[in-house]
Parts: sequence; C-alpha cells; structure tokens
Amino acid sequence: MPDYSPGLAGVPAAKSKISYLDGQKGILEYRGFRIELLAEKSNFIETAYLLLFGRLPAAAELRRFSADLCSHRRIKYRITDLMKCLPEHGHPMDALQAAVAALGMFYPAKNVRDPEIQSNSSVRLIAKLPTIVAAHARMRHGDDPIPPRDDLGHSANFLYMLTGQAPDPLMAEVLDVALTLHAEHTMNASTFSGLVTASTLADAYTVVSSAIGTLSGPLHGGANEQVIDMLLEIGSKANVRPYLEKKLADGEKIMGFGHREYKVKDPRSSILQKLMPRMFEQYGRSPLYETAQEVERVGVALLGSKGIHPNVDFFSGIVYEKMGIDKDLFTPVFALARVVGWLAHWIEQLKDNHIFRPTEIYEGEHERQYLPIDQRP
Ligand SMILES: CC(C)(COP(=O)(O)OP(=O)(O)OC[C@H]1O[C@@H](n2cnc3c(N)ncnc32)[C@H](O)[C@@H]1OP(=O)(O)O)[C@@H](O)C(=O)NCCC(=O)NCCS
Repeated sequence: MPDYSPGLAGVPAAKSKISYLDGQKGILEYRGFRIELLAEKSNFIETAYLLLFGRLPAAAELRRFSADLCSHRRIKYRITDLMKCLPEHGHPMDALQAAVAALGMFYPAKNVRDPEIQSNSSVRLIAKLPTIVAAHARMRHGDDPIPPRDDLGHSANFLYMLTGQAPDPLMAEVLDVALTLHAEHTMNASTFSGLVTASTLADAYTVVSSAIGTLSGPLHGGANEQVIDMLLEIGSKANVRPYLEKKLADGEKIMGFGHREYKVKDPRSSILQKLMPRMFEQYGRSPLYETAQEVERVGVALLGSKGIHPNVDFFSGIVYEKMGIDKDLFTPVFALARVVGWLAHWIEQLKDNHIFRPTEIYEGEHERQYLPIDQRP
C-alpha cells in the first residue's frame, strides 16, 4: 500500500504539457510561455488557442477561431428559460453549473475522442459561458438578457452583455488580461475534478459542469469575494495593522494571502497590480485599493517570512469591483477564464485515458451481525 497523502497533496495525478509553476521562484508558464509575456503581448482568445492546441495560431487560424467563437456566443432560448426558473437569490455559480449541464443536451457529442468534436465543444463552451453568466445576472434583477454583439471582442462583449453599454477600451483590456491570468493553473481542484469526469469518457459539457461545481467552493474560487469583504470591514488604512494583528492572534487567515504552491508573491497578482494605476487614473481612485496596498505592506511584514504573500485573488476582486461587476459574479468570471484550462486538460487526458480509480484505506468494521429492526437498541 503506497503512503497515504491526505488531499493527494504532492501526488502527481497526470503528466501534462499545458502549464508549469515554480512556486519558489514565482514562475507560471502556459505551454512554455511566461505568463508576463502572454499578459503583455497576447490576449485571452489567442491564449485560449495556445492552451487548447499547444502552439500560437497563425493569423488565419486566429481569425477563424475568433470568428467561430463569435458565431457560437448565442444561447438557446430554452437555456434562458431554464435560468428564469431558478431562484433569484441563488448563487450565480449554481445557475452556471445547471445551464452548462443542460447545454450538453442540445449538442450531443458522445464521441469525445473525435478531434472535431473536441474542438467544436470547446468553442461552444468558451463562447457561451459569458452569455450564460451575463443573462443570468440580468434576469435575476428582472431585466431582459442582452444578446451578444458580434463587433465586440470576447471581454468587451461580456461587459456589454452585463451592462448594455459597450465598455471603455481600457476596461475591456484589463478584463482580458485578468481572464488570461486565470485561464489555467496546473492541477488544481476544479481541473482535477474535471479530469476525473473526463476519464469516464463523459462529454465536455459534463466535464465543465463538474469543474464549475468544484470551483464554487470557498477554498477554491471564492476568495476574491472574501477579500472585498475584508477590505470593507477594515475600512481605512489606519485600521489595517490592528485588524491584521487581531486576525492572526485569533488564528484566522488573511484573505487573498498565501498559496499552496507559491511561496513568493503570485506573479499573476503583480501583473494585475501593475494595471491598476491606469484604471484608477481613468475611472477615479479606489479607496479599497488604498486599503489593500497597506494590507499588503503590513501583511508581508507579518507573514512574508513564512512564505505567505498576496495571491491573485488579492487584487482581482478590486479590479472587478471597479468594473461594476457584482461581488457574487467574481467566481463565475473566474470560470469564464478557467474553462479554457479545463478543456485543454480534457483534450490532453483523452490522448491517453485511464479511468481515475484511486484506492482507499478501509478503517471500518467486518462481519457485523444483522439485527432485525425490533431488536436494535
Ligand atoms: C491558499 C491556502 C488555502 C493555502 O494553504 P496551505 O498551503 O495549505 O497552507 P496552510 O493553510 O496549511 O497554512 C500553512 C501555515 O501558513 C498560515 N497561513 C496560510 N495562509 C495564511 C493566510 N492567508 N493568513 C494567515 N496565515 C496563513 C497557516 O495559518 C499555517 O500556519 P501554521 O503553520 O502556523 O499553522 C491558504 O493560504 C489560505 O487559506 N489563504 C487564504 C484564502 C485565499 O486567499 N485563497 C485563495 C488561494 S488562490
């Protein structure tokens, strides 16, 4: 019996060529490209192509891929109707999971090993997730969904479908970078859960709906929401040190700090942070960011020696808040990006599939007596 590792910590669950992370040096690469390079020179759609197919597209390939994505943005009215029936106070992640599971009924794609089916399912999912999230966000407030606009890019169109207004180019650019940064992150919990589902040869919609369910938990996708709550609770720069010291004295964690893999500052959080001054210059200062800067300064002084630094969630919530995105949509926005990583791993898994069937250490009883119900204590 091999050693038991709770949570499978440190146990390799796959061989992969998709992304690489060095947590000591703060390096993240997608398909061998440093994340800083992709954030600066690429965009979410080109990065999606890179992650799915393993190389940067030629100009004509990228044009075709973008046009394909654009033509699949619309969702069936029955998907909209399905979401209309969900309770308006329910969490948008649950609505997203239900809608994605239902999507698969409209696009049967059982031959999952067929590269064309893999590509078509991937395009549909990447294209339709933003429409689903935006439609649900509007309908729960009693508004009609806004159909996608083909003349807008992926990120700009998402903000348009949420608000009804074509966003300022800088807003769209910052969201696009945030999506690029969240598109993939090696073997995390949601990717693993997607792979377990994929290993049974379930279709892409089922794989992605499993992964969405896993992402919805507060230990995975939900931290950026909690960072905003923490910053609001702190209220002012002056209150930062006493607040953090009390949290640590009470044995509580500082939200947006620490990472299982990174022992230095998460490179994605540095990239987002560099974009923020431009945003605030154009759209006005953010008191939350001013508090966050102080939290970073004091937090690193208190925790840096233990390898605990800001992670990507520390700044992403502040960016989304400035875009006017509701707090409970932060995790669905994460899903719009991470769907690419889930699909890339799905395609990779199917090249050499083995059904996931780990073992367990039985610690229960044996050979018990069955007592009729009237004789049980
Ligand atoms: C992300 C996270 C779950 C990683 O955890 P991990 O690598 O399993 O580390 P552990 O939770 O075992 O913590 C190890 C030590 O660091 C401390 N620590 C970790 N993150 C901390 C934080 N955010 N604030 C204060 N202390 C922290 C723990 O208290 C523990 O201290 P101890 O050794 O004295 O008991 C953890 O850092 C965390 O909960 N962070 C806050 C939530 C968050 O931002 N999540 C988003 C992740 S992208």
